[in-house]
Amino acid sequence: MELLARARELEAQGRSLVHMEIGEPDFATASPIIQAAQNALTQKHCGYTPAAGLPELRSAIAAWYRQRYGVEVAAERIFVTPGASGALLMVLAAVLSPGDQVLVTDPGYPCYRHLVRLLEGQACAIAVAAPTRYQLTVALLAKHWSSRCVAALVGSPSNPTGTLLAAEELQALAAQIKRRSGVLIVDEIYHGLTYGATAPQTALAYSDDVFVINSFSKYFGMTGWRVGWVVAPVQYVDALHKLAQNIFLAASSIGQYGALAALTAPALAIFEERRKQFGERRDFLVPALREMGFDIAVEPQGAFYVYANCARFTDDSFAFAHRLLQDVGVVATPGIDFGEHEAAQHLRFAYTTSMENLVEGLARLRRYVGA
Ligand SMILES: Cc1ncc(COP(=O)(O)O)c(C=O)c1O
Repeated sequence: MELLARARELEAQGRSLVHMEIGEPDFATASPIIQAAQNALTQKHCGYTPAAGLPELRSAIAAWYRQRYGVEVAAERIFVTPGASGALLMVLAAVLSPGDQVLVTDPGYPCYRHLVRLLEGQACAIAVAAPTRYQLTVALLAKHWSSRCVAALVGSPSNPTGTLLAAEELQALAAQIKRRSGVLIVDEIYHGLTYGATAPQTALAYSDDVFVINSFSKYFGMTGWRVGWVVAPVQYVDALHKLAQNIFLAASSIGQYGALAALTAPALAIFEERRKQFGERRDFLVPALREMGFDIAVEPQGAFYVYANCARFTDDSFAFAHRLLQDVGVVATPGIDFGEHEAAQHLRFAYTTSMENLVEGLARLRRYVGA
């Protein structure tokens, strides 16, 4: 936040900045979504929807799992929420009592640990690194699971590392956590934004007893529309209805009508084209950063982030990010945002900006590090 405030100040003074810190797609909302939202407005569909979401959207999400993953999910288990953020809050509220522990990775998405703390739980941050692709493993789980643990919360592809949990590991984690009477929560918000040969399978293919969180924010490019969802184990459905009614009443109605259009063929064709562009940006950025001396220990397979080790240039990535901003006008996110483990040696670069901007950003970086 400090860095962003400084970036805003510099921009107000007329400085040109290359933004590589932003966690949202740079593409405009796809036109089928705008059209659907306009139609909803014309028809005055502006009231509350049912707390669990529009029935037709819940069914469309169930159909999405069938088509995309070959997985059958009953629409009754799907709750539409105000973004993945709403889903995270609701799920953690359902599974946590004060004092309970939740395993999360360090580095990891900061809101995971913040929300656990908000609910008076304790986030146990497990240091992860390149050998496990920055992901939780069954071995790490066995080492860190305590009698106070009730859940593990993982993201795949991960923010900030862009790495995936291997299918076998995901399956094994689900089984091992269930054996310990805990729950596995999998944040699949960056599904759709992967650039390898095969797209990852959803955790729902391996177990009906996991919570899977997703959102229209990233792949579908609808950050500000505030629509996400969670697929819950059937035994949590009643509790989630109550929580949804009490915490947020409903996700945005206009957002939900837009989301319905996001799941149609014309919109999906647009997202696939954008995914290709993200892939090209990744393929440009990763080798260019490596050539300059940043160490990227694991090739990011998804999301739109590169988690780069900058130890060759600094032992304080926070100060380094400030200097990058001040001296050459490149904005990147310091590792400290994502935890403590080797945070001072890492920066996260986001490729949520045009190829032209990335080329300019890298030219500035090169100048700065003298590569
Ligand atoms: C890993 C992860 N999960 C969840 C979210 C929240 O997304 P939203 O609430 O917009 O769906 C984000 C946003 O950056 C994220 O990176």
